[in-house]
Order: sequence, then structure tokens, then C-alpha cells
Amino acid sequence: MSEYRTIKVATDGGVTIVTLNRPEALNALSSAVLEELIAAFAAFQADDGQRCAVVTGEGKAFAAGADIKELAATSAAQFYAADGLSRWQSHLVRAVRKPWIAAVNGFALGGGCELAMMADLIIAADTARFGQPEIKLGTIPGMGGTQRLARAVGQARAMELILTGRMMDAAEAQGAGVVARVVPADGLMDAALETARTIAAMPPLAVLAAKEAVHAAANLPLEDGLVLERRLFHLLAGTEDKAEGMAAFIEKRTAEWKGR
Ligand code: HXC
Repeated sequence: MSEYRTIKVATDGGVTIVTLNRPEALNALSSAVLEELIAAFAAFQADDGQRCAVVTGEGKAFAAGADIKELAATSAAQFYAADGLSRWQSHLVRAVRKPWIAAVNGFALGGGCELAMMADLIIAADTARFGQPEIKLGTIPGMGGTQRLARAVGQARAMELILTGRMMDAAEAQGAGVVARVVPADGLMDAALETARTIAAMPPLAVLAAKEAVHAAANLPLEDGLVLERRLFHLLAGTEDKAEGMAAFIEKRTAEWKGR
């Protein structure tokens, strides 16, 4: 069903599966990959039947970073004129209100690590490696690495990783708070899909609100975050799904969600 060149897109019930598909370049994130990811995420967001997405990589990498050959050919003026790299945040983070999972199967370096950290949660193969090696190329992370890694692992470890370019293995990434779960490599997609299906089966409005509220924790002062949480909680009290969920609990039956 895929009309894409650099990614593959499939659906499994209410789960969209996006596979980065440039294994010969370790899934380097070229501008063509970005444009196709933007299209795939827009389709995912627009389809009411799709409730959760999983992004993974073909071959031995999740993504080994932005495409270095493209980066090498882009001038400061070109980057600045186009507000280069802003579309990752606007189209893969801000525009996507439904949850998505990064299933990290191997190298997640530079922009690949940053893409994984844009996801709502990361499930990693035990063979995965995470790092921000941009310093070795004479540059720094440009798709959120300095901000999201510091929030995830704390300033001390983020500073060490970004200044040295050292990679973390999956166990360290989990211990540091980047990764939600580590699973054996051959069970990665099963684990990611099982989690995605679980989320896809939850009441859709509560899922949207939960995602919004948890992300606010990274952006808002505590008092403002607590207000947002309460307002979303108040909002959900008016939904049919909240009435159904509580009635089903009391009546000892399975709830049927309507998404309203
Ligand atoms: C373009 C890449 C690439 C990348 C790998 N390749 N990473 N091409 N951009 N980021 C290509 C190689 O050139 C090679 O192609 C093929 O993929 C296989 O890679 P090898 O290096 O031969 O594989 P291996 O020896 O297994 O080493 C794996 C690796 C290494 C350790 C992951 O490839 C590596 O260090 N890659 C670069 C990682 C990196 O610096 N990422 C940050 C990029 S900057 P050929 O044609 O030679 O066979 C970045 C900035 C983001 O992400 C924010 C601003 C945009």
C-alpha cells in the first residue's frame, strides 16, 4: 500500500507502522525521508481509525542521523532562509496529537536519536545504541538533542554524551530514563505492536489528553501543568467514554469506547 520511496507504511488494525527504509545508508534522515515522514504522520493523524503509530528502521539501524552528505552541502544561508530542521518539530511533534512509539532496532545516532526522543515512548532492542555524535562532525544536535536528552537524562549525563559523542547501549539508555522498555532484538516489533495495540484499544479522548498532559510536564512550570491536568480531567468528565468506562467497571463488563 506504500507509495513512498524512503519509508514503508502499513497498518495493522488501528496501528500505523512506519519503517525507515534506506538500510544502505543506515536510514540516514535525508530531506526526502523528512517529507515522506511528514506525509505519513499527516495521514495517521487524519485517519480516525488509526490510534497509535510505531516507527522503526529497516536493517541494523533505527537511523544513524541526518544525512551527512546533504548536511555537508547545505550552507548557513540556506538553513537560515528555510528555518531548516523546524519541520521536524512542527510536523512530527506539534501536529501529531495521537501517540507514537519509536521501536529502536539498532543505531539511533544524531538525528536518529533525536527522532526517537520525539516519540511519546521508546521501546528498544537490547542491541540498540543511542548517541549524539554531532560534535565529531564539527556541529551540535539540531533536532532537539540538547533539549530532550537533557530533560530525559539530566544535565550531567547529557553534557557528557553531547561533548564526547559517546554511545549508550540500551541498558544504559533505559537506566538513564530515555527508554521505557528494553526487549530482546528478535521480539522488538512484537513488543512494540503489543504496546501500540494496548494504547489503540484505550478510550481515544483520554489518550489524547494523557499525551497532552504528560508533555506539558516538560514545558510548563508545575503550577501551570497541574492546572492543565485538572482542566483536561474536568473535560473528560463530560465525555460519553468516561460515563461508559465507569459504568462498565461498576457493572463488571468490558467498556465499549466511542471516542466522544
Ligand atoms: C549519510 C550515512 C550516515 C549518515 C551511515 N551512513 N550514517 N550516510 N548520513 N548519518 C552510510 C555510510 O556512509 C555507509 O555508506 C553506510 O551508511 C554504512 O555505514 P558504515 O559507516 O559503513 O557502517 P558501520 O561501519 O557499521 O558504522 C556504523 C556507524 C557509522 C557507527 C553508525 O555509520 C557512523 O558513525 N555514522 C554516522 C553517525 C553520525 O555521525 N550521525 C550524526 C549525523 S549528524 P557507503 O556508501 O559508504 O557504504 C546529525 C545532525 C542532526 O544527525 C541534527 C541536525 C540536522
